[in-house]
Amino acid sequence: MMKRAPPVSSSLFSKSQNLWLIWKLLIILSIIFLVMTLARIQFYYDTSPQSYSGRVHRRSQLPMIDDEGFEGNPRIAYLFLVRRDLPLDFLWQSFFENADAANYSIYVHSEPGFILDETTTRSSFFFNRQLSNSIKVDWGESTMIEAERLLLQAALENPSNQRFILLSDSCVPLYNFTYIYNYLMGSSKSFVDSFLDMKEGRYNPRMSTVIPMRKWRKGSQWTALIRSHAKVVAYDDVIFPVFKKLCKRRPPLDSSKGKQNLKLQKQHNCIPDEHYVQTLLAMNDLEGELERRTVTYTLWIQSATNMETKSWHPVTYNYATSNPQQIKNIKGIDHVYYETEHRTEWCHSNAILVPCFLFARKFSRDGAMRLLTQGV
Ligand SMILES: *[C@@H]1O[C@H](CO)[C@@H](O)[C@H](O)[C@H]1NC(C)=O
Ligand SMILES: *[C@@H]1O[C@H](CO)[C@@H](O)[C@H](O)[C@H]1NC(C)=O
Repeated sequence: MMKRAPPVSSSLFSKSQNLWLIWKLLIILSIIFLVMTLARIQFYYDTSPQSYSGRVHRRSQLPMIDDEGFEGNPRIAYLFLVRRDLPLDFLWQSFFENADAANYSIYVHSEPGFILDETTTRSSFFFNRQLSNSIKVDWGESTMIEAERLLLQAALENPSNQRFILLSDSCVPLYNFTYIYNYLMGSSKSFVDSFLDMKEGRYNPRMSTVIPMRKWRKGSQWTALIRSHAKVVAYDDVIFPVFKKLCKRRPPLDSSKGKQNLKLQKQHNCIPDEHYVQTLLAMNDLEGELERRTVTYTLWIQSATNMETKSWHPVTYNYATSNPQQIKNIKGIDHVYYETEHRTEWCHSNAILVPCFLFARKFSRDGAMRLLTQGV
């Protein structure tokens, strides 16, 4: 049998025994030190004021952004979420021509590998403004909100970006740059369309451990965020995974499948981008910092599809419908009515009554061309 205890009286042995003891002590002390350091880091995370119950937007994988001041003017980050190119680039060209280059930045999320250069856009404002880490987006899926988060993450790297406006490839501006700049900068709030959604069954009860029903919101994806809210969305790693897993679009109904369709129809048909930002901000108790409306106009019409279920579609403005009277009507809207809450939202910015809409969608090339020639 082996015995660890050394023989008693050899001076050589007792010397090495002492040495061994010291080593042991050192190792134990370093382990204690390590454990204490780790505990302190954990404690810092759980108590940092940025976190929602220590969880909602912990900044884990992302680099910390230095927010301590910036040189020059505050900028508006124009974030374009597009399928491929920018079909209305000619209109944006004239929009940015009248801007001060120090007052804005442009970011484009397009399909992976797509490069904006003289072969793909007529406007030099967009050259090389595409994200290098873009992903493949399926419209109406969670990849849509993932792309939005990538745009925000990229724009947050520039500390002078103070407002973040999300736009699609069919959006047009209704005013000149300066007017929009002053409107958005003049308000310390985000503009986020947000209302209670109780009738459609998009809320999945399996979310309830993280997202209680009372915090579930619906609204347009096209938001204008202040910097602190942009961070909440960009760095959220609690609500986003829940959406990815439990807020999914139902596969389209197939009339040849008969009975199976009944089962399908009972599934939650969730459209992540119509709920994510609104619900996330509600979860973070930030609704007091919002104008609960969008600055991007969309005209919705209801149409019957072949499966006899009525569905809502945004109208596309073409040459005929983007006539000056129509545009004037959109610009004249000064309130929005939210049916589910019986709430009339009079459009304010900084407590002053203002027109509700700065941008509009969806516009075809022809529609945008008419807007350009007849004046924005
Ligand atoms: C921008 O638009 C506003 C409001 O429509 C107008 O009053 C102003 O003169 C315009 N500014 C420029 C530089 O065109
Ligand atoms: C640019 O920003 C400055 C400072 O915020 C502002 O005074 C100026 O009017 C802006 N220029 C334009 C063209 O919006």
